[in-house]
Amino acid sequence: MDKNFYITTPIYYPSANPHMGHAYSSIIADFFARFKRIDGFDVSFLTGTDEHGLKIQRAAEKQGLDTLKFCDDISKTFRDLSKILNLTNTDFIRTTEQRHKKSVQNLWNELEKNDDIYLSKYSGWYSVSDEAFYNADEIEDINGKKIAKLSKSPVEWMDEESYFFRLSKWEKPLLDYYKSNPDFISPKSRKNEVISFVKSGLKDLSVSRKSFSWGIPVPNNKDHVIYVWLDALTNYISALNYPDIKDELYKKFWPASLHLIGKDILRFHAIYWPAFLLAAKLPLPKKIYGHGWILSNDEKMSKSKGNILDPIKIIDKYGLDPLRYYLIKEVSFGNDGNISQDRLEDCINSDLANNFGNLCQRVSAFTIKNCDSKIPEDIKFEKDDLKILDKFKDNLDLIRDKIDNQDVNFYIDFIVNTLFETNKYFNDQEPWKKKDNFLRLNTIVYTTLEIVRKISYMLYPIIPQSSLNALKIFSIKEKEIDFSSIKNHNYLNGNKKINKIDILFNKIEKNND
Ligand code: MSP
Repeated sequence: MDKNFYITTPIYYPSANPHMGHAYSSIIADFFARFKRIDGFDVSFLTGTDEHGLKIQRAAEKQGLDTLKFCDDISKTFRDLSKILNLTNTDFIRTTEQRHKKSVQNLWNELEKNDDIYLSKYSGWYSVSDEAFYNADEIEDINGKKIAKLSKSPVEWMDEESYFFRLSKWEKPLLDYYKSNPDFISPKSRKNEVISFVKSGLKDLSVSRKSFSWGIPVPNNKDHVIYVWLDALTNYISALNYPDIKDELYKKFWPASLHLIGKDILRFHAIYWPAFLLAAKLPLPKKIYGHGWILSNDEKMSKSKGNILDPIKIIDKYGLDPLRYYLIKEVSFGNDGNISQDRLEDCINSDLANNFGNLCQRVSAFTIKNCDSKIPEDIKFEKDDLKILDKFKDNLDLIRDKIDNQDVNFYIDFIVNTLFETNKYFNDQEPWKKKDNFLRLNTIVYTTLEIVRKISYMLYPIIPQSSLNALKIFSIKEKEIDFSSIKNHNYLNGNKKINKIDILFNKIEKNND
């Protein structure tokens, strides 16, 4: 079985500082990367910044800065954010790097060699904000201004010599590919949107610009720069050292296991990218998942609407793990989700502090007091104990399967429900009343400790630092976390000392006005 896993986030435009929407894409990708790693996979996890094109050139001009200097500064804030979010990315790519330029020019040459590129003239609508071309029927007139219907961003008329990619030629092969690889685009609703767009007919795609210079030059015509999306999409292979397809990284990790992206950029990933790869005779990624948006006051965040939520401010106030937990649990994965401070506080108080934190404190304090700070050795499981313990064993493969289908909601619901059941189990079993029956007391304590271990393993991809803090009870270190061991009921060694731990989450005083 292939035990390599390659996951990517979109590469972000460094036109402005990162916001909560960017943090969301990255945190979800990190969740998958960490899960796969504790499940024994060798994981490559790529993120980075998408630095060419008119959008960036204009943003730099507006600030009177040299374009590369402008990119250096904002790209650094994205790199810093990766650390603040505790991402385990194995690489961070910038499209202004030499390794990437070389890769893009090589891909261009392949496309040209295979007769998929020709020189002509483009006349049509272009949105600089989306870096996208739109057909006339995708444009509307609002108060005398031409706007793209889909993204609501302004469009401008473009009329210039341009190279074209023969996208129309790939219409049928793409439809065939979607058909024979039904999981290629997820979730299903978005797949249908893509298929009907392709079925409505694909026109050849303009893939170079002549009227500005901030981009990668077309190899044999320095008057043109390569279209920023052809440039950007190639990052997924340039980070693996393409065009050197004999390189270890490329051999190991291409095709990618999962390109995680926002729903607004699905067309580029599910149509253009596979068409470029088909034309270059390269394998296609295994899956593209288009997640929903984080909404602020019911709208997608944007600078122009002034509704940007800054992840760093939230982290300063509440801590990183509460934010990670909240985004993963409360935004139903695949759909849009409004984010509210009030719900975040509820999550911290009820799920993290009460359900998880308290359980860890309670059972470890009880063990210290009643079992001489040791994991009980003499135990005998009964039906009530096995009922919860078996849940992990019985669902192990199902959980894996759900993760492979990006069913984040199932994963988190499993944790929340099991925590609830475990708290109830500990209360109902009343170990504090079993001091005359040490075998039973020991078994209840052992069972609860085992569940704390298993749940902490499962929480590791979501709230890594808090999970590691909880695992200090058992002196279990990060590299020892092994997902498959949650099926084992007797993992913890009896008679081993446990440790007292600090409070995992502080409750938030809520203002109920
Ligand atoms: N540079 C391109 C991607 C190129 S990938 C080869 C781009 N950049 S972006 O910075 O505009 O957006 C990056 C990602 O952030 C996209 O997946 C987008 O969907 C996501 N988000 C931007 N705003 C968002 C929200 N409000 N909510 C969730 N994700 C959102 O597009």
